[in-house]
Amino acid sequence: MSAPMISVRNLAKRFGDNQVLRGIDLDVQKGEIVGIIGPSGSGKSTMLRCLNFLEQYEGGEIQFDGATVGYRDGPNGKRIGDSEAKLRMLRAQIGMVFQNFNLFPHMTVLGNVIEGPVVVKGQPKAQATTEALALLERVGLADKANAYPSTLSGGQQQRVGIARSLAMKPKAMLFDEPTSSLDPELVGEVLDVMQSLAEAGMTMLIATHEMAFIQEIAHRVVFIDGGKVVEQGPPAQIFAQPTHPRTIDFLKRVRVYKA
Ligand SMILES: Nc1ncnc2c1ncn2[C@@H]1O[C@H](COP(=O)(O)OP(=O)(O)O)[C@@H](O)[C@H]1O
Ligand SMILES: [Mg+2]
Repeated sequence: MSAPMISVRNLAKRFGDNQVLRGIDLDVQKGEIVGIIGPSGSGKSTMLRCLNFLEQYEGGEIQFDGATVGYRDGPNGKRIGDSEAKLRMLRAQIGMVFQNFNLFPHMTVLGNVIEGPVVVKGQPKAQATTEALALLERVGLADKANAYPSTLSGGQQQRVGIARSLAMKPKAMLFDEPTSSLDPELVGEVLDVMQSLAEAGMTMLIATHEMAFIQEIAHRVVFIDGGKVVEQGPPAQIFAQPTHPRTIDFLKRVRVYKA
């Protein structure tokens, strides 16, 4: 078996006195879809942000495509971080989609999608534009290329967010509650786009409360509580036969498990 696409060992992160991640271990294979579930404040977003190198972490290592990246132990117990330029490159390879879209409001949809390829990767604008229009077609927004984000619905903005990540040709995608700020009737259009990515073989980590969706598309569900992976397994097993008391308690509270 080849090396995992993403491998996390003993990841530890604190904010001041608050130890948020307490030794996370996680492997994600190429093409695997992993659902991340857990109570609010359990560390899901922080873990994803560490995987995108938006947060420094004081302990543990992350391997991406077989190489240690981000921050690691150096001599004399010092931590060594990759350069900001290297981190920017890594970020392009591990796309991230946020709950609140984070689009640039002063740029058109097309401007948002070509920004990364042109500014970060130095891609010629004409080529970036051609590729961006194809991506907008793929997420069903070809007709919105020249619109500004504020004129779009939340579901449309989030689909632009996904197209913007895809424009960097990432090897993996991280989703942090991508539908949590959407009106219910707009959730489906975003999940449809995510499902089409899954079908195309994208490696995906998805933190979400959309349990039915996870049940449908994830190969594996990881339950995080208190900054640790408490239990993991195929959705059918975790949702129907959870074994850890904290998993059972959480799944009862979100009404997925009734026993
Ligand atoms: N930038 C930050 N500064 C201080 N504390 C933070 C910051 N981000 C998250 N936290 C804290 O880290 C803990 C985990 O938060 P988070 O990773 O957002 O959990 P989740 O996504 O599972 O709800 C919470 O106690 C939260 O208050
Ligand atoms: Mg969160």
